[in-house]
Amino acid sequence: MKSAIIVGSAIFVTLTSAGACADDIVTVRQADMKAIAAAVKSIAGMFAKPSTYSSPDFKWAAELIRDKAGQTLIDHFPAETASAASKAKRNIIDERDRFDRLANDLKTYAAALAVDAEKNPAAMTDSMRMRPGEPMGGGPLGTHVQSEAQLASIPAEHAFHLMLQTCTTCHSRYRE
Ligand code: HEC
Repeated sequence: MKSAIIVGSAIFVTLTSAGACADDIVTVRQADMKAIAAAVKSIAGMFAKPSTYSSPDFKWAAELIRDKAGQTLIDHFPAETASAASKAKRNIIDERDRFDRLANDLKTYAAALAVDAEKNPAAMTDSMRMRPGEPMGGGPLGTHVQSEAQLASIPAEHAFHLMLQTCTTCHSRYRE
């Protein structure tokens, strides 16, 4: 009888701590997404008003996104996470490769933007801006990064738009 109670409470402890973990990870990933969104807003503001460009601020924002993307983002969506607080869809688990590739694309674009900020320490140069008539969409690159060399050859503003498409693509498929 006594041992049954001990086993019962052990199961209870295990279940509640697993529940707390799932909620923690949801809180963390949602906070990361909010931080990513704030960084995107800051970069968008500099493209909208180039006189407000600051290389360190731009780089900081790009590196924040870079560091929260890729494997960090992937690890925040483990198979066992189910939470009422989460808007993540279940199909992430079934389409792991596709989801992970979008998380890695986000990192590649953000890393390219950080390099662009480093290369342009004084002002937002024309080389960072999209050229008139340049297709806004993925164009020849598609939304998926073909190669880092190819990415380095396109203006920062174009990489930024491709990055935003990655947000949208992932959300439309994997977020409620
Ligand atoms: C690989 C997929 C993926 C990418 C890429 C991605 N997100 Fe998300 N995002 C999600 C998922 C899934 C959720 C829902 C998380 C949850 O509720 O558990 C989310 C949630 C959010 C939220 C809501 C957070 C909250 O408080 O609930 C914001 C804001 C957000 N993302 C912004 C962005 C921005 C901006 C980008 C691009 C710079 C981006 N995301 C890229 C998958 C992604």
